[in-house]
Amino acid sequence: MDADFLLIHADQLATADDGEPGPADHADRLNNLGIIDGGALAALDGKIIAVGKTTDILDQVTISKWTRVINASGSMVLPGFVDPHTHLVFAGSREDEFELRAQGKSYRELSVDGGIRSTVRRLRQTSEHQLLGSALQRLDRLIAYGTTTLEAKSGYGLSTESELKMLRIIQRVGEISGLDVIPTFLGAHEVPDEYRNDPDAYVELVINEMIPAVTKENLARFCDIFCESHVFNVDQSRRILQAAKDAGMGLKLHADELTSIGGAELAAEMGAVSADHLVAVSDHGIERMAQEGVIPVLLPGTTFSLGIKDYVPARKMIDAGLPVALATDLNPGSCYTESMQIVITLATLMLKMTAAEAITAATRNSAYAIGEGKNCGSLTVGKNADMIICDIPSYKYLPYHFGVNHVSIVIKNGKIIHAN
Ligand code: NIG
Ligand code: FE
Repeated sequence: MDADFLLIHADQLATADDGEPGPADHADRLNNLGIIDGGALAALDGKIIAVGKTTDILDQVTISKWTRVINASGSMVLPGFVDPHTHLVFAGSREDEFELRAQGKSYRELSVDGGIRSTVRRLRQTSEHQLLGSALQRLDRLIAYGTTTLEAKSGYGLSTESELKMLRIIQRVGEISGLDVIPTFLGAHEVPDEYRNDPDAYVELVINEMIPAVTKENLARFCDIFCESHVFNVDQSRRILQAAKDAGMGLKLHADELTSIGGAELAAEMGAVSADHLVAVSDHGIERMAQEGVIPVLLPGTTFSLGIKDYVPARKMIDAGLPVALATDLNPGSCYTESMQIVITLATLMLKMTAAEAITAATRNSAYAIGEGKNCGSLTVGKNADMIICDIPSYKYLPYHFGVNHVSIVIKNGKIIHAN
């Protein structure tokens, strides 16, 4: 068969495909990285057409002058990371809060006048041009660290006009970069200053004005909400999510991040695709998510960056059969990192996941967490030829040797988009 892309002789090629459909639930599936020693992969028009041992693939594929051949000898190959939770577009930075938190102030205390609110004030004053430029810079870093598909949220506009502005920028970022950038509307990220005395009126604005406007321009695939005791309570969250569902959007929640208020249970009740954070999730919440097939998106970088001692109970979730996924939460407040690699290290050290579990959670399962499981997240025939070549002898090095970038080449849709 003809191929325009051919990668051969990878010391280890981890497909993240265990031969079963759907996201990897339970430890045995999460641990099965589908490793091929001496692996090869062929692609045509951006899609994978063959995966296997180099000798077998070389027998099947016709090499022409149009075929880009990469010899990955001495390297290991993985699916490109899928980052299913980012706040990629923002203005300004909050390094002063970072330092104050390190000295003992809490995220919640800082949120009264600073926090998300301060980023909202900055974003409203920043031009689309500037926002696009800074988002693209962060995107370059994400790519350099191996991410080939991501989700990006609005949520620093908190007015109809500036939420639409954010979503249009997210769309542009996807068009310019050629990456798949899945847009999420997060109008209910915080109650903006001007609605502080009447949060319910803001909930009405989200339901009656923002959701229809976002749907009209088809600017978001998902609707997310910060369901938390000091932000939107369960009743307010339910109303907003119901309106989004009625408008045809998929649902996501920032749930049980700091306090256990039934966010996971609400995600299950509403049929959300994912519930994210979940540091304070209840046992009942875990049970309900398992019953309804909600994917837990774990963000250990946030817990680390907030300096919180207790991490999300990942092992309990895996034991309950939940297909855990991992994400950066890239944002200027609670977690400023573009690196899925550091998240994988934190998942092994702090969530007690194995290296294989963490990698599956950062590829296959994270693709399902944004509704992209059929297109990416594993090196499987028919999916996008999105992969990274890493300068490591085995996948176990990925979390182990931390704080450096192991990615040497990033391939998106069968094309090299970055070489470090
Ligand atoms: O996922 N928890 C709410 N939202 C973000 C933080 C956003 C910010 O602080 O700017 C999060 O952690
Ligand atoms: Fe977040």
